[in-house]
Amino acid sequence: MELSLSTSLKIEQAGTLSVSYTKRLGRIWDARVESPFAFVPSKIVESGISPESAIGASRELGEFAQNFLKDILNSSTDADRQRRKSKSNKIVAVGCGRGYDLHWVEEAIRAHLRTIWLDVSDVACQAAITDLNSQFDQIPNSSSLVHLRPLVMKAEIRSALVDPESAGLDLGSVEIWYLCRVLGCLSARSAEIVLQYLGRSLALCNGSIIIVGALLDDNEKYSGSKNSRLMSLKYILKHLSSGSRYDVEVVKKESYRYFDKIVTALCIR
Ligand SMILES: C[S@@+](CC[C@H](N)C(=O)[O-])C[C@H]1O[C@@H](n2cnc3c(N)ncnc32)[C@H](O)[C@@H]1O
Repeated sequence: MELSLSTSLKIEQAGTLSVSYTKRLGRIWDARVESPFAFVPSKIVESGISPESAIGASRELGEFAQNFLKDILNSSTDADRQRRKSKSNKIVAVGCGRGYDLHWVEEAIRAHLRTIWLDVSDVACQAAITDLNSQFDQIPNSSSLVHLRPLVMKAEIRSALVDPESAGLDLGSVEIWYLCRVLGCLSARSAEIVLQYLGRSLALCNGSIIIVGALLDDNEKYSGSKNSRLMSLKYILKHLSSGSRYDVEVVKKESYRYFDKIVTALCIR
């Protein structure tokens, strides 16, 4: 697909976020991540749900998302594993939150991908380090797999994509991107930039992008939600394709009911 001049200019002009804005964002997410009601739709919280039920529902959603990802990792072929071994390829996951969808360390290692988690929140990063290290240490012979030990990086996703060097990321080695309930947390401008840069990264590594979240297509009544912006599948594909410079497509799709929302998991190539 040919890039229009206005789209390519937008990519070139996309900036990183300022340090002060990023710090403020981190503090906002630190406070959210602490709460047992974190990421639950505000209407449900206002209806008086208990903390246990809120956590239970989020855990189940995390299971759905990580099972979708595990299926993809488990479908790796010997050729995939060989290629990843020789190139030290990675899976980069964005937004560890309260750790509901963190439990696929073993599957990533079996697929020969090193996991890197990115999050703008210190609280989320610290909890993820503890959880991921404990998963890793339980794997038999983990001492011989240190090169595949998961890594957690405190970083803001838009800035990390626009200026990967400063975040210590080599986009050419990222074979899979995984974003569960993250795109809707970004401003409209940041979401557009992130999708375009993810598309660009997809083209570099012939990889996959896994996005899990509520789509506007299935959740019209939430279109004006104050906490999470919904986007349509068409919008996601359009911006990924403008970054990759070819038409990307959905190769796997599953849906899940989370309270009264439909959450969709997509694998895009
Ligand atoms: C809604 S939570 C989702 C967490 C988890 N994936 C889940 O589904 O339970 C969003 C996570 O993304 C992180 N986050 C939000 N905006 C971000 C940004 N611009 N860059 C990096 N991380 C961000 C937050 O700190 C939070 O941990």
